[in-house]
Amino acid sequence: MIWNMSDHQQTNSGLLARSLAAVWHPCSQMKHYERFPLIPVASGSGVWLYDFAGKRYLDAVSSWWVNLFGHCNPRINAALHQQLETLEHVMLAGFTHEPVVELAERLRELAPSGLGHCFFASDGASATEVVLKMSAHHWLNSGKPDKAQFISLQNSYHGETLGALSVTDVSLFRDAYGAMIRQHATVPCPDWRNAAAGEDAEAYALRCADALERHLQQHHAKLAAFIIEPLVQGAAGMAMYHPAYLLRARKLCTEYNVHLIADEIAVGMGRTGTMFACEQANISPDFLLLSKGITGGYLPLSVVMTRDEIYQSFYADEMARGFLHSHSYTGNPLACRAALATLDIFAQDGVLAANLEKASYLNEISRPLRDHRSIRNWRNTGMIWAFEVDTPHRDFAQRCFAAALEKGLLLRPIGNTVYFMPPYVISTEEMDMLAERTLAIVELLAG
Ligand SMILES: Cc1ncc(COP(=O)(O)O)c(C=O)c1O
Repeated sequence: MIWNMSDHQQTNSGLLARSLAAVWHPCSQMKHYERFPLIPVASGSGVWLYDFAGKRYLDAVSSWWVNLFGHCNPRINAALHQQLETLEHVMLAGFTHEPVVELAERLRELAPSGLGHCFFASDGASATEVVLKMSAHHWLNSGKPDKAQFISLQNSYHGETLGALSVTDVSLFRDAYGAMIRQHATVPCPDWRNAAAGEDAEAYALRCADALERHLQQHHAKLAAFIIEPLVQGAAGMAMYHPAYLLRARKLCTEYNVHLIADEIAVGMGRTGTMFACEQANISPDFLLLSKGITGGYLPLSVVMTRDEIYQSFYADEMARGFLHSHSYTGNPLACRAALATLDIFAQDGVLAANLEKASYLNEISRPLRDHRSIRNWRNTGMIWAFEVDTPHRDFAQRCFAAALEKGLLLRPIGNTVYFMPPYVISTEEMDMLAERTLAIVELLAG
């Protein structure tokens, strides 16, 4: 049977049925779609997603934290159209092209100092795979083959391929694959919600850094790197912590000769209020990972930026000392062009300053929400907000998701944690809608 687009793509129910029959959706127990149906999306514009009946949803989670400047942004679209007419793809081994070179040069200018080379991959998890291999391979090339273990923070998330899962501390994603995953240690996470009574966020961060120091003292000889999500641990439920931890971690990693990997896949590209979260601790990591927002939410692209000394340890006559990792679409010109258009918007529109104002506006108008009797731990870093809801509903996340859709909002709670991570183009009127409608949902589901 041949599908005719015009016959079959026009209705919500039609597309939904076809999707369930043919697509295995990610991060899903497919059976749950019997109770909480998929949302067919026909088009997008700005912060809005539209279904086939014209109902619209405010994308308050930036489509899994990737979108920065709205869906179907005219400037990114135009750049992509032009790139399409010039070069769609060429392999990057043995070849090079303008968008990938310009992107590497511009990222080097923007990133914390010393990160002179960019290695490109596709999704976030592939950047994690690259960096774990690159870090251990560097130590091998430097005559320290035993340094091949990693540490991450408790509740860390660095992706779901097997290497990435080995430094991801989320049992729901890991447990089924335990037999295939190498065990690496975790160290206490400086999330300020765990601080003792009377202890502030900074004091707690430093207490956790002491635990990191003890671990490094004992294990540094076998450790390649410490991988960390700077300032905000997204998948842990937007756990936020004081930059003092990063500063101490940087010093300790240098002291104990262990790489510091900053996974800014979710928090980079302005999300925490500065272009890169590491800037808030005034540190430069040994490796910086970027993905998600780097293409403005258009195309899969990830980057591993690294220090020149690390790059140099691979530079030799022997093939085996080189970093032989590759993916077919590494450095895809269209993805790089979308990233360049994204950087142009940052440069031309004063995005970070505008975001500062937007953040203070949303904090202000959210007062009734943050003061609500059933809300705890209201927190905000840059363009990320989160809070916990006291509720009798064990399936709060699904109920909240469904209630939000009813009200034209796309919220995707993590357990009892509701968060906002909107595209940066959100207007004051749209922020009003977000705050008011979320308050109504909390009223509905709170204890
Ligand atoms: C901090 C962090 N690292 C890595 C990843 C994995 O990225 P991807 O989903 O593109 O594989 C994510 C995804 O949410 C993330 O938040």
